[in-house]
Amino acid sequence: MYPSSVVELFKEHFKAPPSLVVRAPGRVNLIGEHTDYNDGFVLPAAIDKAIYFAASPRADLVCRLVAQNLHDLCEIRLDRLEKNPSHPWADYLAGVMSVVQKAGFDLRGVDLVFGGDIPVGSGLSSSAALEAGMVRVLDQLFGLGLPVFEQIKLAKAAENDFVGLNCGIMDMFASVMGQSEACLKLDCRSLAFDYIPFHAPDEALILNNTGVKHSLVESEYNTRQQECTEGVRLLQTVDPAIRNLRDVSPDLLEAEKKRFPERVFRRCAYVVQENRRVEMACAALKNDELARFGAFMYQSHEGLQHDYEVSCPELDFLVDLTRHEPAVLGSRMMGGGFGGCTINLVKSAAADELLEKWRRDYARKFDRSLVSYRVQLSDGVRILAV
Ligand code: GLA
Repeated sequence: MYPSSVVELFKEHFKAPPSLVVRAPGRVNLIGEHTDYNDGFVLPAAIDKAIYFAASPRADLVCRLVAQNLHDLCEIRLDRLEKNPSHPWADYLAGVMSVVQKAGFDLRGVDLVFGGDIPVGSGLSSSAALEAGMVRVLDQLFGLGLPVFEQIKLAKAAENDFVGLNCGIMDMFASVMGQSEACLKLDCRSLAFDYIPFHAPDEALILNNTGVKHSLVESEYNTRQQECTEGVRLLQTVDPAIRNLRDVSPDLLEAEKKRFPERVFRRCAYVVQENRRVEMACAALKNDELARFGAFMYQSHEGLQHDYEVSCPELDFLVDLTRHEPAVLGSRMMGGGFGGCTINLVKSAAADELLEKWRRDYARKFDRSLVSYRVQLSDGVRILAV
């Protein structure tokens, strides 16, 4: 399967073997949602679903790009990088090339095939994997010598400045820095991070995919950021040292409640509480208190559903299905929201039976089939072959 099918397609297409193969994983986020762009804390991990790249450098400015899963290809030029509405997938690659060139690096064209098993639009960060992997491809092919943190920042810049989503740094960070035994507690302000071992020998991480595809660019994702910024502006009149919701304590927010429009208050309250929850959830994980960890997952969902309002009926239904199941420790919507997956911490022994039941219940309610994935943690972006 992967990466051999990508390599085979490369050979078929370009009549020569690739000079490089790279793997870039998707990610889960255990807790800490919509906190990254508020300079807060997150707890993601790279997973065993990934995008694989086979690539070779060219001497000219042409890039021949092939998307294996989409059975699509397109040709772009490095001196004419712009959004490509007929091949939107190419924007992620062009975006990376654009920001790398803007950062002052001299690039040449590439022949490239990519493909993989991260479901698109499901909140598993296929776009961040595409961007983070592409940065590594260019770094290696053209000897750019980019330090990993620089690679992460360039991948984020591609999404922010070229694709147009003002996302935070969590997804790229997890895709690049992931480890197979641990999740990453990341301080999105300082980029200081800790690997927190994920000891759950009798539990499985299960993703339930609503099948509702989310396109965050078209969603209210950017609106949520504006609402948070508005909250910060209101609080800066009280304390000019506040730079971001990260700097706000629950007490301060409560004390200044009267300054806030009701909706903006709820948005800010969620973020301030979620930051605290990440800290407490990490402590629970370190103490092997998985039930306590799971309770924080449910609280996170409550906030995302009612205060931050980025859930949807399908996500809420899937979380509700897990309540009162003794074999489920925690469940919540994951990622940007408005569709995508829930993440569930489930006793492995009961998983098959529960999945069967959830599939039936979901189909009955929404007339749509529920696809679930049991994920393992994995290492971050790696060069597989040169
Ligand atoms: C998306 C964004 C991330 C993050 C999450 C919500 O995945 O790309 O930066 O904001 O949503 O936590």
